[in-house]
Amino acid sequence: MRTVLVTGGCGFIGSHCVRSLLAQSGWRVVNVDKLTYAGHVENLPGVTEGPAYRFVKGDIVDSALVAEVFREERPWGVINIAAESHVDRSILDAAPFLQTNVIGAHVLLEAAATYGPERFLHISTDEVYGDTDKGLPSDEQSPLRPSSPYAASKAAADLLCLAFVRTRGLPVMIARSSNNFGPFQYPEKLIPVLCRNALRGETLPVYGDGLQRRDWLYVGDNVSALLAILERGRPGAVYNVSAGQERTNLEVARAVCRGLAARAGEAPQRLLDRIQLVPDRPGHDRRYAMDAGRIRDELDWRPRVTFDEGLRETLEWYVSHQEWIGKVLAVDYDTYYDAVYSRSWQRLP
Ligand code: NAD
Ligand code: TYD
Repeated sequence: MRTVLVTGGCGFIGSHCVRSLLAQSGWRVVNVDKLTYAGHVENLPGVTEGPAYRFVKGDIVDSALVAEVFREERPWGVINIAAESHVDRSILDAAPFLQTNVIGAHVLLEAAATYGPERFLHISTDEVYGDTDKGLPSDEQSPLRPSSPYAASKAAADLLCLAFVRTRGLPVMIARSSNNFGPFQYPEKLIPVLCRNALRGETLPVYGDGLQRRDWLYVGDNVSALLAILERGRPGAVYNVSAGQERTNLEVARAVCRGLAARAGEAPQRLLDRIQLVPDRPGHDRRYAMDAGRIRDELDWRPRVTFDEGLRETLEWYVSHQEWIGKVLAVDYDTYYDAVYSRSWQRLP
């Protein structure tokens, strides 16, 4: 069995990645997760400790803990998924983003330099390229022009990874994926916020004019890309991961309303009327779009789930897992929500 150290395996994408690895034979997964407001063991129902799975509650910024895990496990591969991941929170307070996303990545790179895993996959985002409203879709050589503190922290970590490839010869690869959606996504990102609010009879907030465009990727397709890169990617290479499914935010909000209404056997108008344009996110990028030709050509990766299919599954999941929403919402959720949606981005106390 090959051991893979997954960080952030109790978050949204991380939990799908852990499940997917454990569903294939031949992998042992060691999951290091700090269990922040976004990380929950409830995201891994049915996954229990045993020969194929170990959970370590810990912070990737803690170099002693990380070194201990590397020493004990001698992982064949590392997938660094742990991050502070929400743009709006980074606008309210950037400090935890610099800690986890930059310093945490550095701690893992140093441990890898010491213990020599064969593969190291760092998870990044299309947001490092910044706004592509007026340009061509970004390819892996496009300049990095991050807009938010979140995106800036991810770009910093990407550059650090590439510096470790050049100076220390580490077999690091970077995956930059577009907006993911699917079950287990914390209700702060667009689609789960819309689901939660719709199910609670609240308004459905859309920032600004709602004509910003995002490129939506079903989380299962992202995970299949990550595992393809982990096993077959070129050390030192960056791979864009996108399904080329652009939608405006208003289109997404309307699709959520129609999907939920159809499931409830109702006309959609009642939900559509609840869409509300609210003050825009500061520095809001209008559009993200990437060219994913490299992963298609080199690794023969293709997305399998269309936006409509993925959204149907996602809505079904949120409707039938409303108790999950109650369990994972952090104690500070109302304070956070109020800061963004009612007090126009006032910094958190
Ligand atoms: P998430 O917020 O749902 O989960 C993050 C996980 O990391 C949580 O389990 C949290 O507890 C853990 N974590 C945070 N800080 C930690 C620390 N210091 N030490 C250990 N664990 C820590 O995030 P997500 O949406 O699943 O995103 C995962 C990764 O994918 C991130 O690197 C993000 O930048 C990237 N990404 C996400 C998207 C998206 O649409 N969600 C798109 C592109 C890239
Ligand atoms: P989000 O899910 O936060 O992902 P990202 O910022 O990484 O793209 O947001 C997706 C898009 O939806 C983005 O353009 C911001 C917008 N948005 C809203 O209009 N309303 C909301 O309540 C949220 C959370 C996001």
